[in-house]
Amino acid sequence: MGLDHFPDRSNWFVPNASMRDAYAPNHAESFIQDLEVIGELPSDLNGMYVRNGPNPAHAPHGRYHWFDGDGMLHAVRFQGGKATYRNKFVETDGLQEERAAGQSVWPGLKERMPEGKLPDDAMKNVSNTDVTFHNGKLYSMWYRGGAVYTVDPFTLNTLGKLEHDPRLVGLQISAHSRVDESTGEFMFFAYGNRAPYMHYGVIGADGAVKTFIPVPLPGPRLPHDCAVTPNYTILHDFPLINNPEALKQGRYSLEFHQDWPTRYAVIPRHGTTDQIRWFEFEPRYMLHVANAWEEVNARGETEIVMIGTPYVMPRDYDGSLDVKRLLFTVGTQGTDYELYQWRMNLVTGETKEGVVDDVLNSEFPMINTAWQGRKNRFSYNVLMGRPRTLEQPRFSGLVKYDFDTGGAVAYHPGEGFWFSEAPFAPRDGATEEDDGYVVGFVWNGLAERSEVWVTDARDVSKGPVARVIMPVRVPHGFHSCWVREAQLQAAAVA
Ligand SMILES: [Fe+2]
Repeated sequence: MGLDHFPDRSNWFVPNASMRDAYAPNHAESFIQDLEVIGELPSDLNGMYVRNGPNPAHAPHGRYHWFDGDGMLHAVRFQGGKATYRNKFVETDGLQEERAAGQSVWPGLKERMPEGKLPDDAMKNVSNTDVTFHNGKLYSMWYRGGAVYTVDPFTLNTLGKLEHDPRLVGLQISAHSRVDESTGEFMFFAYGNRAPYMHYGVIGADGAVKTFIPVPLPGPRLPHDCAVTPNYTILHDFPLINNPEALKQGRYSLEFHQDWPTRYAVIPRHGTTDQIRWFEFEPRYMLHVANAWEEVNARGETEIVMIGTPYVMPRDYDGSLDVKRLLFTVGTQGTDYELYQWRMNLVTGETKEGVVDDVLNSEFPMINTAWQGRKNRFSYNVLMGRPRTLEQPRFSGLVKYDFDTGGAVAYHPGEGFWFSEAPFAPRDGATEEDDGYVVGFVWNGLAERSEVWVTDARDVSKGPVARVIMPVRVPHGFHSCWVREAQLQAAAVA
């Protein structure tokens, strides 16, 4: 497996680890019904699991980085105890240009950009990072920021770009922009290398842009995620940035400023720029938020609580921050994370922060999305794998966190099984937060095939209750979502 999947070997550079085995691209677009199952798929599991990920359609132009691959959506629909698989490329402008040229024309993350160009202008929006469901469509998003591609949830055909409002045209909308399922609003943030460096906006359930404001930053930053509560959106400004001189030369070189704070912007959901409040914390860097909520403390003051999985801050022998090691970890997709909490008092401006769990090393937190923005108890993360290999973050198991007790239950099936981010799927008619399943791809390295594992969210330690055998290999990828059956039914009628 691996090299045989390349369409034309003559033009390929020596493939790196991000192109072999379970990482190798799969160019076939499939629609396969009634998939084989080990065990029994629960009849009360109805809806669709969708995952985005990199899948280079052409030989890379120079050195390949895992993040460079063209976005491909993989959807597994569960209905009445049966499962159906469909996958398609996200037909981005860049991919279509390369299809027309018959080869890749864009440089990747590891390459120097053309003279005089900022990297963001010279890179292809591959739309390979994140996927969510809004207004009856899938939204495919890119972590570096670019146009959001809209996709038909039933055919996975790319419909176009989310550019129906002139303010959205050319905007670098980030992955991890979030949907509030209770209001149907889509909260997005955009960032880039030009002042004011960040924007924030809200698209309503009717599709109209309700709010759009600049969020001025001191310079270009590298936020990755955001958080939403019913009344506020929280945006991130970490002291990890691209070296400005390198940026001018068209390349990326990370630097971490340990004398700068972590700053979080708390913005009323439909607020204005002058209503942004900044809260400062210890310097740190984080990719993913688990959840945030508003909580009234004993003095009757409202606090914003945010939980996420930042990088562990490595210490030198004398207790000082080991910046070099932190940059090495971040720069090589190293995996050393902890579960962490920040609190922002909206009345006094006071802040608190601290570790929730630094025993397990886990990331890609998923929750029951009906609890997004509300105080919740459970998060389902993937465990980080051993052995650690450069440029191959692999996930070796699942962990269920209980924020109320601080406890965790983890499941690791043994060597050779590698997980993917696994969203929570509520059981039909469920009313309690953890009444449902955790659903995600697993690469079975022993049998050399992809599977989807369905795990009872109330007993993660038991392992999967059903394993769907994928007839085709699903390359390792990034983010995912669960689309409820009711959302699909409503989209079908619309
Ligand atoms: Fe992410």
